[in-house]
Amino acid sequence: MSNSIAFVVYLIFLMLGATTAGYMEDKYPASVLEDTNLDMFGLTRKYDYPLESHFVTTEDKYILCLFRLRRPKARPVFLMHGLLDSSITWILSGPWAALGYYLYDLGYDVWMGNARGNFYSRNHTFYNPDNDKSFWRFSWHEIGYYDLPASIDFVLKKTGFNKLAYIGHSQGTTTFFVMSSMRPEYNAKVTVMSALAPVSYMKNLKAPLLPIMRNLLALSGNAITEFLPRSTLWKACFRSKITEDTCYDYLFQIMGKDQKMWNATMAPVYMAHLPSGSNLKQFKHYVQLIDSGRFCQYDYGPVENMKRYDSSQPKEYPIKNITVPVALYYASNDHLSSYKDVIRLSKELPNVVENCLYPYKKWNHMTMVWGLESRELAHKRMVEVMKKFEPEL
Ligand SMILES: *[C@@H]1O[C@H](CO)[C@@H](O)[C@H](O)[C@H]1NC(C)=O
Ligand SMILES: *[C@@H]1O[C@H](CO)[C@@H](O)[C@H](O)[C@H]1NC(C)=O
Ligand SMILES: *[C@@H]1O[C@H](CO)[C@@H](O)[C@H](O)[C@H]1NC(C)=O
Repeated sequence: MSNSIAFVVYLIFLMLGATTAGYMEDKYPASVLEDTNLDMFGLTRKYDYPLESHFVTTEDKYILCLFRLRRPKARPVFLMHGLLDSSITWILSGPWAALGYYLYDLGYDVWMGNARGNFYSRNHTFYNPDNDKSFWRFSWHEIGYYDLPASIDFVLKKTGFNKLAYIGHSQGTTTFFVMSSMRPEYNAKVTVMSALAPVSYMKNLKAPLLPIMRNLLALSGNAITEFLPRSTLWKACFRSKITEDTCYDYLFQIMGKDQKMWNATMAPVYMAHLPSGSNLKQFKHYVQLIDSGRFCQYDYGPVENMKRYDSSQPKEYPIKNITVPVALYYASNDHLSSYKDVIRLSKELPNVVENCLYPYKKWNHMTMVWGLESRELAHKRMVEVMKKFEPEL
């Protein structure tokens, strides 16, 4: 609890904190500051990549925004972001480092999904996310069950291919495992699934901020509501050296500390675009997995579970049904995905084609996406594995 109090005091301090005018402007390059204000279209225009947006309606009527670095007739690859993140994570680090641009430069038709409820997919045919509680009746289960199938079908229809390569980060792997276990027909639509920092079992999670999260969830009671939408609160981190260091400290506690691979010059860009919005129920569902040690559907309590699942316990996801080739990439200093849990998953998945625990001891939850040398040390290898499963054109 004392940790939580410190956190709240710190938040207040941030909001009232002494302003050192121009601290951020003096310290960071103008180009970095510019990137904090640009969205998907702004960034790709600046760095000269061709971007399209597409809207997809799911079976349960959520309207999702898909982005595409357009390369017609080339093999499609679909990228899915993690919790609180968005499609922008794949391009944030710039042409010299970001995975989205790298894949495009290698000749792929790059599609980037956005989960319901985030900054780019905050829309529904009937419900208004600002006024209708019904909009927020979902966890990552629904993202896997509805959003991914709708997005994948859209990409295949648009490109004329019958399979695509899938790359997911964090919750982008959880949702894939939901889809491919519950709707096994989707296994046939994917050549290979590359799982970066995979999250399924969470028994061994060592997140230092977990107690704070638990207190927050306890305070929220049964409320299910939007959580950490995109805002300008991040600017408070860059008021002075002290606020900046404190923000980094919390950030490193969340994702694991990997100072060497962290491009500190880019920090304001990452902080400006993350968080990009989620639903509190996604967090509640993850905390249930931590507590139960199972990889299962949402626990509504025995009575409601009985109605929904015909069992007092939520149903486990049938991992045995995930027949698609899966390549696992994970790190030992990841506070949000324990390598022990990934090893357990790797033993249950029927078709693991790569099982890569990175040998770099400090790599954290984001290193394989944003890390300074991730192109050389992670992305190259991942693409090599992907290529083994590509059909002839
Ligand atoms: C939400 O979707 C509706 C179509 O149902 C569209 O008319 C509207 O412009 C969309 N709103 C936003 C903010 O994208
Ligand atoms: C998963 O596979 C089992 C057979 O191994 C099958 O009985 C079950 O229906 C499948 N689950 C789904 C959701 O299709
Ligand atoms: C780190 O970020 C800065 C600012 O965007 C960029 O100019 C630099 O090339 C990056 N460093 C590396 C090694 O990628």
